[in-house]
Amino acid sequence: MTKYQVRGGVPLRGTIQISGAKNAAVAIIPAALLVNGPCRIENIPQISDVTLILQILQDLGAQVRTINRTTVEINCSGVRNRKIAHSTARKIRASYYIVGALLGRFGWAEVPMPGGCDLGGRPIDQHIKGFVSMGAQVEVVNGIIKAKVPDGRLSGGQVYLDMVSVGATMNIMLAAALADGMTVIENAAKEPHIVDLANFLNSMGANIMGAGTDTIKIRGVDSLQGGCYSIIPDQIEAGTYMTAIAAAGGEVLIQNVIPKHLECITGKLREMGVDVEERDDSVVVRRTGPIHRTNVKTQPYPGFPTDMQPQIAAVLCLAQGTSVLTEGVWDSRYRYVDEFRRMGAQIQVDGKVAVIEGVRRLTGAPVHACDLRAGAAMIVAGLAAEGVTSIDGIHHIERGYESIVEKLSAVGADIQVVYVPDDEVNSQAG
Ligand code: EPU
Repeated sequence: MTKYQVRGGVPLRGTIQISGAKNAAVAIIPAALLVNGPCRIENIPQISDVTLILQILQDLGAQVRTINRTTVEINCSGVRNRKIAHSTARKIRASYYIVGALLGRFGWAEVPMPGGCDLGGRPIDQHIKGFVSMGAQVEVVNGIIKAKVPDGRLSGGQVYLDMVSVGATMNIMLAAALADGMTVIENAAKEPHIVDLANFLNSMGANIMGAGTDTIKIRGVDSLQGGCYSIIPDQIEAGTYMTAIAAAGGEVLIQNVIPKHLECITGKLREMGVDVEERDDSVVVRRTGPIHRTNVKTQPYPGFPTDMQPQIAAVLCLAQGTSVLTEGVWDSRYRYVDEFRRMGAQIQVDGKVAVIEGVRRLTGAPVHACDLRAGAAMIVAGLAAEGVTSIDGIHHIERGYESIVEKLSAVGADIQVVYVPDDEVNSQAG
């Protein structure tokens, strides 16, 4: 088993380069299924979720050519619609985007129910409601989402989302791009990756208006043509490094970001006594003084992102005073709290609310990364803790962070990948 080993207490100094956005890439890559001819996609992050979604496209017959480290060319002209393996679909949440894309292109799709981080219930009823509003018949049988349109082409529909859902908004956009007529999504999500998907599809010839507002209108077109597109920088990756600097102290220039997308995180960090200087496509994050307490509530964009909740919690564990953290998106996103307690954190959780009593210091401990962002938060906590934190379950972290060990080492963090023989791991189990 491989683990990350972090020795905390070293202030971070230098420059970190942010990669392309995971949650944009995992929707834009399936969107290539709708396009005739080659799509060149730049600024692709090198993470395992991207490898998996590219694998699904290849299994469907797409040609995927690596142009360089961050650019691929995908040609889906020869794709044949077929069933997707349970084993692949279950490893990743974004496999649900294959449903919208195949339904839009072929009029039918059979895709196993998706996987992804365990954050409590993750229903897909709003995705299905959207497909049904466009004339599809959808059922889930034996763990497989089966969707089909009787006459082969979706027609424009009107859908009001009962809750703001990133996945449902993007999936309906995918399905609607080639539908006959206009589809309207009300109460749509407004995350930067929603706008990125719309920009990608529009650059290939789609007609999508209003992305980034709560009403999106998609006028279906007959076909999409290949082109070149560059994915936006990852808001959450940047935010994670911002919290790492807030926790460990120091001064770091974070490059290749869109500062506007970070404002929800920047605002909270400033309240906590962290200095954030915004530049054109970078931010400088600096902390030299104490961390102040604050309250945080996660919400859909432009609110504070749920995908930053565990990382900001790591910083609040070291704040002066008591902070209240409220999870406003997921039912269960506090599974990491027991791991933080091993490091000396004082946190009480009641339902969706966590009360964090700041402590003077955290101490290194063996901890388990129970999901992607929780794992990232353990690195953040470990960077500030006294002594050594060893983190297992790192495959979760590698799903969403490109070269995290290298990027943090480059700013002076003492973090490395260590190999622990399986017999040693087993003898520790109880
Ligand atoms: N929901 C429903 N029904 C649906 C869809 C969603 O009840 O049909 C509920 C969910 O249970 C949740 C809320 O609506 O309470 C929001 O869920 P959403 O659909 O927005 O989440 P998602 O699309 O499954 C994406 C990201 C998550 C991120 C959320 C919220 C991807 C692949 N995943 O999930 O990212 O937390 O949006 O911003 O884009 C991560 O990157 O670590 C991650 C978990």
